[in-house]
Formats: sequence, structure tokens, C-alpha cells
Amino acid sequence: MEPLRPGDRVALLTSGGDAPGMNAALRAAAKVGTALGLEMLGVEEGYKGLMEGRVRALGLRALDEAARRGGTLLGSARSKRFMTAEGQAQAHESIRATRLSGLIVLGGNGSLAGARSLHGTTCFDGRPLRIVGLPASIDNDIACTGMALGVDTAMNTIVEACDRIADTAGSHQRTFIVEVMGRDCGYLAMVAGLAAQADVVLFPEAGKAESAVVEHVMSAIDSAYARQGGRRHVLVIKSEGLKIESNRLKQLVDEQLGQRYPEGHIDTRVTVLGHVVRGGSPTAFDRMLATRLANVAVRALHAGEDQVMAGWSQPLQSRTPSPFDPHVTLWPLDDVLRETGKLQSGDNSLVRWRVQALSQAEKILHQ
Ligand code: F6P
Repeated sequence: MEPLRPGDRVALLTSGGDAPGMNAALRAAAKVGTALGLEMLGVEEGYKGLMEGRVRALGLRALDEAARRGGTLLGSARSKRFMTAEGQAQAHESIRATRLSGLIVLGGNGSLAGARSLHGTTCFDGRPLRIVGLPASIDNDIACTGMALGVDTAMNTIVEACDRIADTAGSHQRTFIVEVMGRDCGYLAMVAGLAAQADVVLFPEAGKAESAVVEHVMSAIDSAYARQGGRRHVLVIKSEGLKIESNRLKQLVDEQLGQRYPEGHIDTRVTVLGHVVRGGSPTAFDRMLATRLANVAVRALHAGEDQVMAGWSQPLQSRTPSPFDPHVTLWPLDDVLRETGKLQSGDNSLVRWRVQALSQAEKILHQ
């Protein structure tokens, strides 16, 4: 673990879906790196920009402003070419041409796999390129970290949207199906469901057949309407990862409503929150998380670490926290990618716990 030297060039790169808090992480990384004597640069548009050698100086004042906003000042992209042999060769070439000694990658699973694929890259001076990853994805589908950047902001956006929907749903006694992002991971739907007092939370990890999903929604409607003097609107939060299109779910529920409530007084509506959930100013938690993860990522890189990801403290943690911050742990990228694979396929104790906990919570909180 040879430490980096004063004046070594380190580039920051944001890749994949942007996440609120990315700019706050860029700001913290640039400031900490500069204080450590490194030359901190930014890569435009993720791995696409890396291949094309689009590496530029970072304006610290501009980052101060940007840190309060969502998105990423550097731009992002999902590059298919980077994962090909030609793309990799082009990236190696531009890493040498731009005289980089280190790279910090902010992104989700695909971006961290990209960081892993750069292992073994030689810098212009013959030293190995050092790479540290930082988990950033609103989906919270990255292993070895309790939270990824952007999750808290996305969660708050969903809850605020659901509160607004609840106002109008209550006024018309309607059932609303609110679809939220999260790719194949139901985490956002689950936690926002709890916080927004959803009657039903639908997520792929539960592995329910279409008919069981419809029945789940219908039983929530039945019990809402059976309640004496209770509220007569129903909030269903559906993860986009659940492979039933929201309008189809509405249609199936409407068919059942027609049979069970022929007087036709129960209306349903669908709201797809989509990319609204990915934008907006990062919450205080995301800014704090960004700052602390970035601080450790830069210090670890500076100290000579390579091929690790800075993860926020997580349940069932088995590794020793980093010496720089007791809440942040450095995980080998190989472990991160292997455990993320299990997390995404459901073969993971945390996913099983989430499914069980959510089902218990639904029973207890909505009776
Ligand atoms: O991974 C983040 C995410 O926002 C997912 O929740 C969503 O499925 C996907 O990205 C959308 O990607 P795009 O912005 O390319 O449409």
C-alpha cells in the first residue's frame, strides 16, 4: 500500500443514474484531496468522458453552490462501450494521457463493476492506478453499505408526494396506486410505505403472483370500507420492480371492484412518480453521508488503498471500521459486487428480513 504523493492527480467520476448528494460528495472529496496536497480533477459524463479524456479542473466555489443541488455537476452516462475491450483500452490510454494516479467512482452497481474492471491499469509513471468507490444510487441496492447516496432524499420526496396524494385521495375516497422507482429493489417502496402510512406496499422481493397482488390490494380496500367511521381511501405504493404494469394493476383491481362493489362508488387512480424521485436538493442526511463517505474515500486513496468501496455502517457488519471515521468501513470491491448480486437476486439475509419485517408492519400498523 504505497501512499499517493503530493501533486498526484486524482479524478472524480459520477456514473449511472445521478443521485442527490453526488455534488456534496464531489465538493467534500475535492476539498479534502486538495488539503492533502493532491490535484483534484473531475471526469465529465462518467466512463464515456473517461474514455474520451474529458478530465477537467474542479472549481471549488462552483462545487459549494452545486452541493446544495441534486444531479451531478460533472454529468453522468451509462456507457455500454466502456465494458468492451476497445472501450477499456481507450480508457487505459486516456488515464495515462491525463496523468491520473487515482480515481474515485460515485455510482451504483454497474459503476462499481466498471471500477473493478479498471483493476490492473498502469499509470503514466508505471505505478498502479488506485481506485476507490462510493455508493450512490437512490435504489439502495448496493451491498456493504446501510445507505447509498440519494436514498434519503428520494424517500423524503416519495413521502411528501404521498402526503399530497393522501389529501386528494381522502377527499374523493379513492384508491391510489403510486409507483416509485427502485429498479429491481423494493427498498424505496418499503421504507416510504412505512413513513407515508401506505395501506399496501408492493415490491418484487415478496415474489407474489399477479392474482395474489390483486387480492392484497382488494383486501385493503375491503377492510377500509368495512371500517366504521374510518378513512375510506387506500394508498398503494408499488415498486417499479414489481413486474405488473401499474395501469394493468388498476384494470385488474377495477374488474374486482366492479364485482364486489357494483354500485361503482370506488374510484382508482395511478400516479407514476418516475424521475421526480431522483431530483431535488439533497436532504441534510444525504449531505452529511456524502461528506463523510467522500472524506474517507479520499483519505483511503491517499493512504494507498485500492479497489475498495467506502460503505456506511450497516446491520450485521463484520469488518472493522476505517481509522478515519467509525461509521465508515472500507469493503473490497469483490465483496461488494458478490454481495450486491445476492442482494439483487433476493439470496441475502437482509432482503429476507426486510420482506418479513414489512409484512409484520403491514399487519400491525394497518389494522
Ligand atoms: O438506478 C437508478 C434509477 O433511477 C432506477 O430507479 C430506475 O429504474 C433507473 O435508474 C432509470 O434509469 P434512466 O434514468 O436511465 O431512465
